Amino acid sequence: MTKPVDATSTAAWTALAQLKQDLRPDLRAWFDEDVSRAADLTFDVADLRVDLSKNLVTREVIAALLRLAEEVKLPERRDAMFSGQHINVTEDRAVLHTALRLPRDAKLEVDGQDVVADVHEVLDRMGAFVDKVRSGEWVGVTGKRIETVVNIGIGGSDLGPVMVYEALIPYKQDGLTARFVSNIDPSDVYEKTADLDPETTLFIVASKTFTTLETLTNARLARTWLLDGLVARGAVADDDEARQAAVAKHFVAVSTALDKVADFGIDPANAFGFWDWVGGRYSVDSAVGLSVAIAIGMDGFRDFLAGFHAVDEHFRTTASERNVPLLMGLLNVWYVNFFDAHSHAVLPYAQYLHRFPAYLQQLTMESNGKSVRWDGTPVTTDTGEIFWGEPGTNGQHAFYQLIHQGTRVIPADFIAVANPARPLKDGDEDVHALFLANFFAQTAALAFGKTEEEVRAEGTAEDIVPARVFAGNKPTTSILAPALTPSVVGQLIALYEHITFVQGVVWGIDSFDQWGVELGKKLALEIAPAVNGDEEALAKQDPSTQMLLKWYLGQRA
Ligand code: F6P
Repeated sequence: MTKPVDATSTAAWTALAQLKQDLRPDLRAWFDEDVSRAADLTFDVADLRVDLSKNLVTREVIAALLRLAEEVKLPERRDAMFSGQHINVTEDRAVLHTALRLPRDAKLEVDGQDVVADVHEVLDRMGAFVDKVRSGEWVGVTGKRIETVVNIGIGGSDLGPVMVYEALIPYKQDGLTARFVSNIDPSDVYEKTADLDPETTLFIVASKTFTTLETLTNARLARTWLLDGLVARGAVADDDEARQAAVAKHFVAVSTALDKVADFGIDPANAFGFWDWVGGRYSVDSAVGLSVAIAIGMDGFRDFLAGFHAVDEHFRTTASERNVPLLMGLLNVWYVNFFDAHSHAVLPYAQYLHRFPAYLQQLTMESNGKSVRWDGTPVTTDTGEIFWGEPGTNGQHAFYQLIHQGTRVIPADFIAVANPARPLKDGDEDVHALFLANFFAQTAALAFGKTEEEVRAEGTAEDIVPARVFAGNKPTTSILAPALTPSVVGQLIALYEHITFVQGVVWGIDSFDQWGVELGKKLALEIAPAVNGDEEALAKQDPSTQMLLKWYLGQRA
């Protein structure tokens, strides 16, 4: 195993610490003194235009961050990932989500297996199935075409599909809708199915492991809902054979554990596989994206994959000075480790991206929320900032106050598209232009603030001048795309995947395992009998949990 380099022991880290100590952030002066700052710190990656110039960095800082990347051997680690080495050391797995979007004629053999051929075999099977559902050739057990697809999954088997589906609603086929059930709170499956017609509903059970309690419980609830509904209306006979035939027409699965899919009663012919080298949170571009593919069609899904691939190629081959995911990942390290930033806001000015921050929470926090390095030794510095956000302009009327005038540094990524899917007008006024005026205004306000003199010049009473001053120098990155196409959505995801990777390498952590979610899962199963009133199990709980459980049991009707 290659040992992680301790970033804090590098010469670049020492230089960065000194640079931070000497830094007096002054974006007004920096832009005044350096007329090419904006141009020099703006980059293109595939269709994305990324402006880093409103970050709290000088050219010296950027040079030192790039030296840090070299010193922690980031290029080697990146190449190891792309070539299929087992960089997920705690699970002894390759990390190859990038292979999911390789074109058909690419070559990649890993552990003796032609990975590209495997990926395209599944994509072709998905394509055939997607076409059948969309054309109406695939029908439910009573011969009706599918109108609603319900994806049942959680974590990476939910957040990616729901985010991308919502982002690409303008591309979906009329008459076909997708819904997403994830929570084991039974109200989720209830509300998502209550108004559906079982004869026109197709369930996709998406689970990498096919052991996840939430997903399997919801899948069973959905199967009961389907069969009860069909039997009650006399559409299906009340016997095992008829029930099995109905499940075969209304349930498909996506998993790496195809044997378990068969045990659940889903026809293996209707199961789409993927591989252990795809992490759950990196899987929306695998068969896990089936609900998206059905909604937007296989051509759209292939465009989506091409978008990822364009950014992969940028990350793999572009010189460090212009490598956007590398620079953005290093900037995040700069803020976390040298500014003590605890969180990072992601603010899409695109309502269709409203689930993007939630999606990024799993991607970034499940990946980099670690306190040991990949060789088992403790991390040597802070890791894993909290990612959060909401679409603009809603956030402006909620939490932006804290970003503008709070005491913490909160780096923020602003994302917008030039051409909206719904270019509505309010009379003569282009509403999208009004919307984006906010996008541009916010990053300028955060960067340049408002001085005491400017506040006074507005005639503000002296005693409230301090409250109306904006310090400025709040770091932001602006990301613009021509339009929210399937390719652009793929590009955005790949961008953040690689940013996450860069941070993980600097911190020396395995960004591809998630042992931290195991304890809670195990305890929930152990505690379940106590929640059902088992006295012996209750007595084994700690005093606080016992009291809570007793109160809960007393409240149950
Ligand atoms: O929450 C832990 C986790 O393992 C995630 O990493 C994963 O995306 C999710 O559970 C769902 O897992 P599966 O796809 O195996 O059901």
